[in-house]
Amino acid sequence: MSEESRDPARQVEACRVCGGADWQEVVSFGPLPLANSYLDPADSFDDEPRHPLGVVSCRSCRLMSLTHTVDPEVLYRRYFYVTSDSETITRHMRAIAELCVGRFAMPRGGLVVEMGSNTGQQLAAFRDLGMEILGVDPARDLAAIATGSGVETLPDFFSAATAARIAKEYGRARLVLGRHVFAHIDDVGDIVRGVRELLEPEGVFAIEVPYALDMLEHNEFDTIYHEHLSYYAVSTLSTLFERHGMRIVDVERAAVHGGSIIVFAGRDDASWQERPAVAELRRLERVSGFFDDATYTAFAGRVEHIRKTLPPLVRGLVADGLRVAGYGAPAKGNTLLGVCGLGSDDLEFCVDTTDLKQGKLQPGAHIPIHSPAYGAQHPPDVYLLLAWNYAEEILRKERAFLESGGRFIVPVPEPRIVSAEDL
Ligand code: TMP
Ligand code: ZN
Repeated sequence: MSEESRDPARQVEACRVCGGADWQEVVSFGPLPLANSYLDPADSFDDEPRHPLGVVSCRSCRLMSLTHTVDPEVLYRRYFYVTSDSETITRHMRAIAELCVGRFAMPRGGLVVEMGSNTGQQLAAFRDLGMEILGVDPARDLAAIATGSGVETLPDFFSAATAARIAKEYGRARLVLGRHVFAHIDDVGDIVRGVRELLEPEGVFAIEVPYALDMLEHNEFDTIYHEHLSYYAVSTLSTLFERHGMRIVDVERAAVHGGSIIVFAGRDDASWQERPAVAELRRLERVSGFFDDATYTAFAGRVEHIRKTLPPLVRGLVADGLRVAGYGAPAKGNTLLGVCGLGSDDLEFCVDTTDLKQGKLQPGAHIPIHSPAYGAQHPPDVYLLLAWNYAEEILRKERAFLESGGRFIVPVPEPRIVSAEDL
């Protein structure tokens, strides 16, 4: 058997939104390990699996897609990514629940179904507003944790078949929600058709995805990892929904995860009026070059610039005798480190608040992950802010570190050093 045929990563062929096959190559990062496959120090790393990681853009609908799709059974059945309980995300989840219920006049007792519901934090915010809730998540351990905490969660992949089963057993939904999960789905047409059938006639499908425009403009290349199959803008999602009997009725931009959009869609026979924000963002996409090859070439050039400048910046500090560590061990950090070729020779350790990550090593880079308390006891001179999407919260929390002379490197949109004087 050839290497190629043993690889559980399948090469993308037709566009999952429009069916086209005229792809513009955007970036190609070579084979990298799965970003959430943290390693045990006792593991042997010789055979750490790596899969091609690259992005192409569909010249007809401008979906940005990974070049290779890793089998979801490999990615998600034993999945330990736990939704952040940071202040930023907790506040955001409460705001989403209020936004959905308020803007779409959802009656108390209506059913909210969430796909990729993780440990049930978002659904609990809906329950607090008087809604009935049901989660769906293929990560069996996480689904069991959620169900144990009182958020009933089916341990399944969401699909049209799952949607039909839910409609039969639990009734139709007022809201179907997917926060940062839609970008992980390959057969999006099946999902949209399934959601359409599961919704009440005036029900709403709300998804939150990283906004492709923000990713392109702010050089957020580390949003690219094997779980994120697709990078969406409003125009692309309009094409998708319209092909499957739904239409976008509203959209909100949100600052989380480097810039996201929350897109609200209704059935095409529902009475929702499209709000002006939809046309406004589609226009912004047109005028900012989202449909032009040159935009993607320029993005790739800026990513290459970061790849060339960040490693010498870090290594220069280390050569000056300074100790550098990573702040946060997010999945995106593994892309950043992998693309830049930074590893345990450069960063002494990373600190991360997630219990499950502490004591493990980062995939690929093999940097040990410790608790924030360890970081406070062994403060480095400089932290590379891998969790840059929480920069505001973290710089506030680490004031004492900064005031005692500590510095942060913020890697995107381009590497810069932040010290106490910059606050
Ligand atoms: P996320 O972007 O997927 O939410 O991951 C953020 C990671 O950063 C997660 O592993 C937790 C970590 N983190 C910290 O270690 N300290 C912090 O203050 C915050 C906000 C996140
Ligand atoms: Zn397409």
